[in-house]
Amino acid sequence: MNRCVTAACFVLLCGIGMAPAQEAAPKSSSAGVFTEEQAKRGGLADNANCAGCHGDKLLSIAPQFPSLAGRAFRTAWIGKTIGEKFDFVRNSMPPKAERSLGDQVYLNIVIYILRFNKIPAGDRPLTPDLELLKQIQIATPPR
Ligand code: HEC
Repeated sequence: MNRCVTAACFVLLCGIGMAPAQEAAPKSSSAGVFTEEQAKRGGLADNANCAGCHGDKLLSIAPQFPSLAGRAFRTAWIGKTIGEKFDFVRNSMPPKAERSLGDQVYLNIVIYILRFNKIPAGDRPLTPDLELLKQIQIATPPR
């Protein structure tokens, strides 16, 4: 094989090897897919828009409202994708005022719920890109 071909192959292989590494979304919520700061902001937005029914500590204030922590979280959130939960919340919460908040605000609230339930934070902020969010599965948090 002559040098040029070898070099071309090398570049090609590197290209193939690197492209997915740059583009790939983390596939599990264990990888630290949002920041602590986002969770904090989400906490404030939750207090203002959700806590009236879902409770201060994400424990529902009345039987008709589901809790969003503890066992309820494990049943309704683990194994789903962040995208599914984000999309549901954005399209149906608060009842009769769905889509009343910005996408990033809804996402921050979802992040707050994840963080509250011990899903680890990381260094990179998460953006409300539904396709990307649908690729991130919510995994059982580390103990
Ligand atoms: C007026 C009371 C009320 C407010 C305010 C409210 N919710 Fe709800 N929420 C409900 C009720 C009732 C249900 C159950 C009916 C349903 O699932 O559609 C529910 C269900 C949910 C669920 C589904 C259960 C689960 O664990 O997946 C999520 C998530 C949720 N709410 C998040 C939110 C968020 C986030 C906010 C704030 C943006 C919010 N809710 C504001 C009453 C409320």
